[in-house]
Amino acid sequence: MTTTSPGEPVLSITGLSKRFGAVQALKDIDFDVRPGEVVALVGDNGAGKSTLVKAIAGVYVPDSGRVSVDGREVSISSPAESQRLGIATVYQDLALCDNLDVVGNLFLGRELRSGGLLDEAAMEQESWRLLRQLSAKIPSVRIPVASLSGGQRQTVAIARSILGDPKIVMLDEPTAALGVAQTAEVLNLVERLRDNGLAVILISHNMSDVMAVADRVCVLRLGRNNGTFDVASTNVQEIIAAITGATSNAVSARAARRTTEEVVR
Ligand SMILES: Nc1ncnc2c1ncn2[C@@H]1O[C@H](COP(=O)(O)OP(=O)(O)OP(=O)(O)O)[C@@H](O)[C@H]1O
Ligand SMILES: [Mg+2]
Repeated sequence: MTTTSPGEPVLSITGLSKRFGAVQALKDIDFDVRPGEVVALVGDNGAGKSTLVKAIAGVYVPDSGRVSVDGREVSISSPAESQRLGIATVYQDLALCDNLDVVGNLFLGRELRSGGLLDEAAMEQESWRLLRQLSAKIPSVRIPVASLSGGQRQTVAIARSILGDPKIVMLDEPTAALGVAQTAEVLNLVERLRDNGLAVILISHNMSDVMAVADRVCVLRLGRNNGTFDVASTNVQEIIAAITGATSNAVSARAARRTTEEVVR
């Protein structure tokens, strides 16, 4: 596997498998990401991307495989455990409360208090600090998130995810519903996260987004690894070939053979 970012992986996965009844969603997956690196996780519908993210987020417990954080083997048995290990996840539906303002959403469930009362001033100040750190364009932190644009809502969700000071941020299709300008804003945000030394895992179907911000691209196909590419030395055609299986590399040939064996069995 090639690397572009120096240093040891903050997250390293080897041989991870997960089955749902008759469906082998993930089989022998290897994956890693380093601090200050953006790794795109790509693959066709049903390739296993969300399942891998949910295994890292503690939503699904893998059947087998090893997961290490900062070189130490861990068992991520719940979402709370994943967060405790410094892993933040932004799901596609964002789970924001439309009726609350930006501050309310950022601090929901972890409100700052002073003398038993909510410390609104401190939360507002911290919200601005956080948004400035991300160079985010939000007109006011006191407007309900219902009145924000899609890109601004995504920004609030990402800002919320880094409030707990994580080491790893996973973003599931953060630009899927966005227009051109909003997409650029969110991609900018991904670069700010990387500049801040975070490891970013980005699920995307959009190859131009992937080529614009990722350092490496990890391709899943039919629940298996089908190549990892350095963005600096690959092209969209090569990645699409790995996604669709129209590639002649040894990894995919092996994957195809295993799949055939499974079908035969
Ligand atoms: N909770 C579940 N129960 C049963 N099967 C599941 C479950 N979650 C995922 N699967 C199956 O596992 C496989 C991988 O699904 P997954 O959602 O990880 O794919 P994906 O790469 O995220 O696809 P998409 O791009 O469509 O989001 C699919 O065949 C899916 O039907
Ligand atoms: Mg998915």
